[in-house]
Amino acid sequence: MNIGIILAAGQGQRFGSNLPKQFSLLNDKMIIDYSIETFESIKNINKIIIVTPQEWVDKISKLYPKHLVIKGGATRQESSFSALKKCPKNTKNVLIHDSARPFISKSIINKCLLSLKNNSAVIVSKKSTDTIIRVKNGKIIKIEKREELFLNQTPQAFEYKIILNAHIKKTAIATDDFSLLKINDIKCKIIEGPNYNIKITTEQDLKIAKALLHNL
Ligand code: CTP
Ligand code: MG
Repeated sequence: MNIGIILAAGQGQRFGSNLPKQFSLLNDKMIIDYSIETFESIKNINKIIIVTPQEWVDKISKLYPKHLVIKGGATRQESSFSALKKCPKNTKNVLIHDSARPFISKSIINKCLLSLKNNSAVIVSKKSTDTIIRVKNGKIIKIEKREELFLNQTPQAFEYKIILNAHIKKTAIATDDFSLLKINDIKCKIIEGPNYNIKITTEQDLKIAKALLHNL
C-alpha cells in the first residue's frame, strides 16, 4: 500500500488571517483542494489521509468522503506523526505533502514513487539560487556556500517503517519529516523540485500563486 498524507492542520500564523491559509480560495477552489485532487489522480496511491485542525475534520470529511480525515497536532511534526499512526498495517510507503503547496504535479509524485523502489527516502529539493547568509541576533555570522545549499519542498516519500520509527524516537524537532532521519544510515534520493512548487506562507505568496495559476 502507498499512502498519501496531506498536512493541513496548521494555523498559518505568518499568513495572518483567521482562516487557516490552506482553506483560502485560489480561484474557485481552496488551496488544499489542489493537492488532494493531484494525489487522487495517481493510480499507485491507494489511500489518502488528510490532517486538519479539529474544527475542520467534519467539513473536509463531508467534502472528501472517500478519504480518512483526522485532526492534527500543535506542530507539523505532531500532525505528521498522527497520520503515520493511522496508516493501515500493510502500508509499505508514505508520501507526506504540505497542503500549502498547491502546484505539486503528478510527475513529481510519480518520480517519488519510482525512486522509492531503490531508496528508503526520497526528497524533492531545489538548488538555492540566492546566496544565503547566517544571521544571529541581527549579526551576520557566516556566508554560506550557495552551491551546497538546497531548499526542501514536499512531497517527501519514505519507506513507512523507517519514518514511523523516526517519529517514535523523536530525536529532533523538525519542520519537515526528512530531518528526523539519521542521514548517514539512509539511502536517500534527491529529486529536483521545480520553482513553481511554492509553499504559500504569506499573503504575498497567495498573490504569486494566483499569477502562477494562469501560466502553468
Ligand atoms: N501543518 C500541520 N500541522 C501543524 C502545522 C503545520 O499540518 N500543526 C501543515 C500546514 O497546514 C502546512 C504544512 O504543514 O500545509 C507546512 O507548514 P507551514 O507552511 O509552516 O504552515 P503553518 O504552520 O500553518 O504556517 P505558520 O508556520 O506561518 O503558522
Ligand atoms: Mg508552520
